[in-house]
Amino acid sequence: MTVAIASRLTVTPLGPTIGAEVSGIDLTQPLSDDALEQIKSALWAHQVIFFRDQPLSPAQHIALARRFGDLQVHPLAHENHPDHPELLRIHADEHSRVVAGEDLHTDISCEPEPPMGSMLHLREVPPRGGDTLFASMYAAYEALSPTMQHFLEGLTAIHDGVKPWTTGYKIRPDKPFPRAEHPVVTVHPQTGRKVLFVNRGFTTRIRQLGYEESEALLDYLYKHLAHPRFQCRFHWSADAIAFWDNRCTQHQAVWDYYPARRNGLRATITGQAPEAADPARVAAAPKTYPKVR
Ligand code: SIN
Repeated sequence: MTVAIASRLTVTPLGPTIGAEVSGIDLTQPLSDDALEQIKSALWAHQVIFFRDQPLSPAQHIALARRFGDLQVHPLAHENHPDHPELLRIHADEHSRVVAGEDLHTDISCEPEPPMGSMLHLREVPPRGGDTLFASMYAAYEALSPTMQHFLEGLTAIHDGVKPWTTGYKIRPDKPFPRAEHPVVTVHPQTGRKVLFVNRGFTTRIRQLGYEESEALLDYLYKHLAHPRFQCRFHWSADAIAFWDNRCTQHQAVWDYYPARRNGLRATITGQAPEAADPARVAAAPKTYPKVR
């Protein structure tokens, strides 16, 4: 069996905050333990990493992603590859009315245990456009005032699959969508850095605030975290891979290429329940909504 050779991978940052391109490896070959550790180090350091010219088959894609953990089957089963349900189809063409991930979001944060990461491989890219934006939720958290950081660390938020999948994609589910409550500020299990963990895609409500207070705070946080200084922008080429750490990033697919085609598959790696930055305050927080509108 050939094993992917990686004496020393080359890691080239895309910008000062988030993202790096990694070269010097053939990911169609099984990953050596050394290469696995180097890729993990690059991912923890840069939050999202990119590889070019990796013509993966679906089976190779699954084998590669499995080196980082078990794979999660996306709750929207009809979006999955017919022969490989652990791969989500990402597709747009002249018939598309919506595309996946047009708003900044964290993948499937409505699950009690949201994914650790996602690995997207695009086979076909449009002649122009179709970039993906990635935003660092470490940087978004760190740019808040200490007073705001402290306030947010005592809060939890509801994340609900109903929000994107019925309102955005107009899907009528045959079973209830996942829904979960997570701390608003979490701690990354590998780096120990604090993360702002609300996203416009799935977060519906801050549990400890009245409805209007929650709306105002979430609106502010969505505006804050979308600032370009927390982002990098990846310009795809055919057979490129983006591998993001879903615990500390958000991403947004830019659909500026209609009616051109863009097509690929995403493997999603399972994760754990996000840990609170201040577990004692979160544990003591009220468990019911306050009676304030
Ligand atoms: C997604 O996984 O949200 C889609 C990202 C993309 O198509 O660039």
